[in-house]
Amino acid sequence: MHRIDLLLNKLTLERKVRLLTGADEWSTHPDPDIGLRAMVLSDGPSGIRGVTWDERDPAVNLPSATALAATWDVSTAHAYGAVLAAEARRKGAHVVLGPTINLHRSPLGGRHFEAFSEDPLLTADLAAAYVRGVQSGGVAATPKHYVGNDFETERFTANVSVSERALRELYLAAFEKAVVEARAWAVMSAYNAVNGATMTENPLLAEPLCGEWGFDGVVVSDWWAARTTAPAALARQDLVMPGPDGPWGEALVTAVRDGRVPESAVDEKVLRLLRLAARVGALDGFTPAPDTASPGDTATSASEASPSDTATSAGSAAGSAEDGAVLARRVAADGMVLVRNDGELPWAAPGPRSVAVIGHNALQFRTQGGGSATVTPPYVVSPLDGLRAALPDAEITWTLGAVTQAGIAALPIALLTDPVSGEPGVRARFLAADGRELLSENRRSADLARLGGSRPAGTASVEVSTRYRVREPGIVRLGVAGAGRATLTVDGVRVLERELVHEGEDFGGGLVSPPHASVPVEPAGEEVVLVARLDDVPQRNGLTLTLGEDLSPGTQATDAKQANSTDGDPAEAIEAAVVAARRAEVAVIVVGTSPEIEREAADRATLALPGAQDALVRTVAAVNPRTVVVVNAGAPVLMPWRDEVAAVLLGWFGGQEFGTALADVLLGAVEPGGRLPTTWPAKEADVPVLATAPVDGVVAYDEDIHIGYRAWLRAGTQPAYPFGHGLGYTSWELTGLAATPDEVSVTVRNTGDRAGKQVVQVYLSRESSTVDRPERWLAGYAVVRADAGRAERVTVRLTRRSFQHWDQGWRTEPGDFTVHAGTSVADLTLTARISVP
Ligand code: BGC
Repeated sequence: MHRIDLLLNKLTLERKVRLLTGADEWSTHPDPDIGLRAMVLSDGPSGIRGVTWDERDPAVNLPSATALAATWDVSTAHAYGAVLAAEARRKGAHVVLGPTINLHRSPLGGRHFEAFSEDPLLTADLAAAYVRGVQSGGVAATPKHYVGNDFETERFTANVSVSERALRELYLAAFEKAVVEARAWAVMSAYNAVNGATMTENPLLAEPLCGEWGFDGVVVSDWWAARTTAPAALARQDLVMPGPDGPWGEALVTAVRDGRVPESAVDEKVLRLLRLAARVGALDGFTPAPDTASPGDTATSASEASPSDTATSAGSAAGSAEDGAVLARRVAADGMVLVRNDGELPWAAPGPRSVAVIGHNALQFRTQGGGSATVTPPYVVSPLDGLRAALPDAEITWTLGAVTQAGIAALPIALLTDPVSGEPGVRARFLAADGRELLSENRRSADLARLGGSRPAGTASVEVSTRYRVREPGIVRLGVAGAGRATLTVDGVRVLERELVHEGEDFGGGLVSPPHASVPVEPAGEEVVLVARLDDVPQRNGLTLTLGEDLSPGTQATDAKQANSTDGDPAEAIEAAVVAARRAEVAVIVVGTSPEIEREAADRATLALPGAQDALVRTVAAVNPRTVVVVNAGAPVLMPWRDEVAAVLLGWFGGQEFGTALADVLLGAVEPGGRLPTTWPAKEADVPVLATAPVDGVVAYDEDIHIGYRAWLRAGTQPAYPFGHGLGYTSWELTGLAATPDEVSVTVRNTGDRAGKQVVQVYLSRESSTVDRPERWLAGYAVVRADAGRAERVTVRLTRRSFQHWDQGWRTEPGDFTVHAGTSVADLTLTARISVP
């Protein structure tokens, strides 16, 4: 008998069942008698938050999954996973809750930024590489959310109605390689239902996941997704999160005693949990498996070892991960997609003498999407910071131009001093109802997000005080966000008093966009003491306090002399930007979305950019022909002005090093290496699959296998930029296509005058077929890097699966297929015929 089975035999039913629900929000239960330690699970997927939301425990904030996907580079996805594993170890986490690999079915999907692509092959390859990277560090990866969570509206209850074929060829295919090839140690079951059964009870957990695909890891529920005792326990659902409460516990013990759930079902779940613990080094006597991907795979059965071996061998495995900040910068540049360039980029050395940097997101760059993916980065290099550092001798101005974010933007730490300790940041005090000080501490942010876990019991008031070094003389609109009775004093004078009530019961919504109030203040002198306070704070978890500046319409903001009061009028804000753009050699406008509109738990209502940003771009481009637009959004947005500007760069949610990477790209130190992992539409009306809202609780995937570029091709409509598109700084020629059913090779020549990257893409089509097929579909690709004038012979392997369709099993329709090779789904210059038996 295997030693894991012997451990199981030592446990009573109660002790077994206890292990199957979390001990708290992020950990599992230990059982010291069998040498089992608690395991910590952490979000993911683009940084490791750990168990608290606290700026004193920052995490490397990598670019969003859409940026990673735009690299089309599996080796980069592996490196990304390895950095996450190192971060997880540093934070004491055993399980990373990622990658998110639901598909980009509609660009309105709220978590689009967190997932990879509209194409199942590209998604599956990147997911598998990410999983391998994470698990090479001895940490479990958790591909999520299995399956059909491709939208956010009514996500707990919506039922996806989808054909078996579309499931197999698209939505399950996205998960398959992560499980079958990369051998993920965990998978997260989704909130939604598929074809009538909620995913924590769905037969898809058994087949294909555990049977056909051989998954032997733990199925973790999405947080609060498991809602029943017997049906979830009878399914291949293993671990209910979070804990300590939930639908199992005592109720499951009773269900087993009553004969409604066989004890063998509980045993299987416990075995899987113990196997996971053995793999991640949380079970005494077992050597953690450091690398499932290597040929000498040791992961499928954890081997015996002395308990003392456990920690050391696991600890060293992550040692080879790249430095997080270095990787963040590399992915940001390599995933940046240059969709348009009239010759403006790259800037010739030594760069422009003056740059008008414009846009809310240029100053407050969104490094990540909102929701559970959020981590606190140690610092953020904004586009403005990045350009100022790279062009120290240039005159660089910043103007707001247009507001994107509603609410209070935290005052930057660089301008704040704790008045008690003299350290950077703020003094946070937690007070009881009788005014007693429960805790006083230095905090390194004016945004005390999610105080739920860290505030002392009995906290009735929270106070933040700081010495604020005034950025610019003049009026600034200061405010407070959070729930409770809010006050703000400036140098001892009360300037604001307001009852702030968080509407609705949505705990998440209260954290993402809390109520706020602000007032115009004209600081006297270069430094003022600010005290923001919330009294009578709500006693539930969703407590947050931000002291900051209100940039919303009706307010003003200045950073540099050129940008004076805009006084809330969008036209005046644009005018100030135009003045700056006229005076400068080049204008760089950073447009983007805001935390309210692009985040978890809600789909977007529109693809249009918020506020007056479209008008801003048009007006600035009309006065400065050298206008470069940088898009700071995790998902497609409409760019009606795209042909009126000199260049457009898609920067996604580019992570903590984005500003550095942007300067690298603008100045030509590196190429923008990205290719679109998803089609970017010109107009909302053109998008073939757009609606995300359930109708009577059902989201009907009626388009079947035709999503993304497949749907665009079928509709015959031109998007703004097609799947796979992206420009570099050199030119290429593809020749000499040779194809067999096993591989395709092409000669790729760099015909320009500098080194560059190209992504060679191979699609298949089938002219006469007895089955419904996409007009063409991605079958393989290769990243090529070549010096000026160099040619490379590139081979792309094809798998049998690329020729197959699902019809109650994988089938190959014999006959001729056409192979297309090129540089986007719409730019395929080479074709060949192959015959498949
Ligand atoms: C999200 C998951 C996440 C979990 C824990 C859920 O709301 O859907 O992706 O891992 O919360 O934060």
